[in-house]
Amino acid sequence: MQQLQALFNQAFEALELDQKHASVGLSNRPDLCDFQCNGALALAKQAKKPPRQLAEMIVESVKNLIAAQGQADDYAFDIAGPGFINIKLADSLLEQLADTQSSDERLGVSTTEAPQTIVLDFGGPNVAKEMHVGHLRCAIVGESLQRVAQFVGHKTISDVHLGDWGLPYGKTILELKHQKPDLPYFDENHQGEYPEESPVTLEELNRLYREGNERCKNDDAALEEARFITAQMQKGQSGYHGLWKHFVDVSVQAIRKNYERMDINFDYWYGESDSYAYIDRVAKVLNEKGILVESEGAQVVHVAEEADGENPLPPLIFFKKDGAVTYGTTDLATIFQRQEDFAPDQIYYVVDQRQGMHFKQVFRAAEQAGFLNKKDGGTTLPLHIGYGTINGPDGKPMKTRDGQQIFLGGMLNEVFEAAKVLLPTAEDEQCKADGVSQEQLDQLAEEIAMAAIKFNDMKNNTATDYSFDMNQCTRFEGKTGPYLQYAVARINSILDRATNAGITAGAIKLSNEFERKLVFTLLQLNDTIHKAFEKHEPSVICDHAYEIAQVFSRFYTECPILNQEPEVQASRLKIVELTKAILSLELNLLGIKTPHKIYTKRETA
Ligand code: ARG
Repeated sequence: MQQLQALFNQAFEALELDQKHASVGLSNRPDLCDFQCNGALALAKQAKKPPRQLAEMIVESVKNLIAAQGQADDYAFDIAGPGFINIKLADSLLEQLADTQSSDERLGVSTTEAPQTIVLDFGGPNVAKEMHVGHLRCAIVGESLQRVAQFVGHKTISDVHLGDWGLPYGKTILELKHQKPDLPYFDENHQGEYPEESPVTLEELNRLYREGNERCKNDDAALEEARFITAQMQKGQSGYHGLWKHFVDVSVQAIRKNYERMDINFDYWYGESDSYAYIDRVAKVLNEKGILVESEGAQVVHVAEEADGENPLPPLIFFKKDGAVTYGTTDLATIFQRQEDFAPDQIYYVVDQRQGMHFKQVFRAAEQAGFLNKKDGGTTLPLHIGYGTINGPDGKPMKTRDGQQIFLGGMLNEVFEAAKVLLPTAEDEQCKADGVSQEQLDQLAEEIAMAAIKFNDMKNNTATDYSFDMNQCTRFEGKTGPYLQYAVARINSILDRATNAGITAGAIKLSNEFERKLVFTLLQLNDTIHKAFEKHEPSVICDHAYEIAQVFSRFYTECPILNQEPEVQASRLKIVELTKAILSLELNLLGIKTPHKIYTKRETA
């Protein structure tokens, strides 16, 4: 597609036509052609020519360019209807491209011409409490974007950016103070070190947070006190700070376990609190620029712009009345820190889209403060990749029946149990024959469960809300993670059988439409990966992987490998190998594992 696009761009230029209309796309009539260009219709009026005639001129021009490259036989053109240009690739060209693709270790995916350093801020769990499903999508999408960015040749620096510095700690500490006032942390005359052991477990922390929250909801004085405690903790008051440290340690252990389980990886485990060391320096810069101003006792940065019109963006509050900092302060200071430590070209925030306004404020303040890269005369604003919510059956963000947050660990367990039901036990004949233990089957169920959750999430556009349906996403049929894992396992068994039959792969030679369709689909890999990166959309990869699996299924019914002419066998085997390599790569970029063999209750792949 890229090569064709270049040719059409050149032709349009030569004919002095607006290149905006030169765009070549996949055909929506694959029965007629592979690609099409509809520019002649849009330009006819302007060029004062009938569209068909204009289309003919364009085709002539493209043909000349192709002939000059010695590729005259590689493409066939046809003008359809009022002036659509239909393009079909010669089988010989597809064969040659597919052979090249399969001998390339990157499977034909180019690396970017402009490698960047990208800070990826994703995950963002809050540490006074256990992780809940609200932090599932950022982990899944963030990890995939991290893998895709690296694969296309960018340098990534990922930071989990723990939420470890706000009012929730104040509320939790306040509650603990009510329940266990005798703890040394609350004794103003305490001397020396505090205990090494945390006074609370993760379960207690969850409960304390909930109860503290309740208390502050009903009692203004309590809320005031929680605010005060937060400010004291941030200023380093030793008892509160000591408690805070315990809270962080206890919950980070659990958070790490969840991420390990999902194979989500971070280079840095920084938190909001790590920005604290930078706040004075940031305040100094803001003051020097004269943009930190007083407003109702607080210190703020005005970020409204004319373009906001009737709805001016509210100011970013940098210091509250009581001196405490806000979420805006820590994010602004974190940008400062990231510029100093990593000098990134770009920062991506994979965060709930409901935080859009917050990031607008932060990015504008960062721009005013001069914290952003200057490039080509302008500044690159960081990018908020906002994701939609995971809803329950009622279409509202998923909650437990009594309206509580659903814990992530619990949800992962449930999906694991659902996956387990699909698999046989170690007592199954096939498992016995293969010497597969129950432990290995559980591992398999775990890999299937993670695939189910991840694919289910990413098959939707990142910005779209979706309803979580456990039964749907764990099925081996339909557009699911397990279906794709199963497709790969099935290919593995085909390959094993071919090897046993002594067949070896050889040059690709297309002999029917099923082979052609599969090879054509596989050749979309490069476009797919780059598009996924540019749009920050793992769903683009999900769509392609699913299409491959479907097209492959058809291919495999129609194109047996065993008992064929040797060249046909060799070619088909090579196509199968290529399919496996591409599917595995795509699943890996989605963060999904590909078990070699999948045991199911129905049949064995
Ligand atoms: N902890 C935040 C939350 O739970 C998400 C943090 C996202 N990253 C950031 N730099 N603000 O909503």
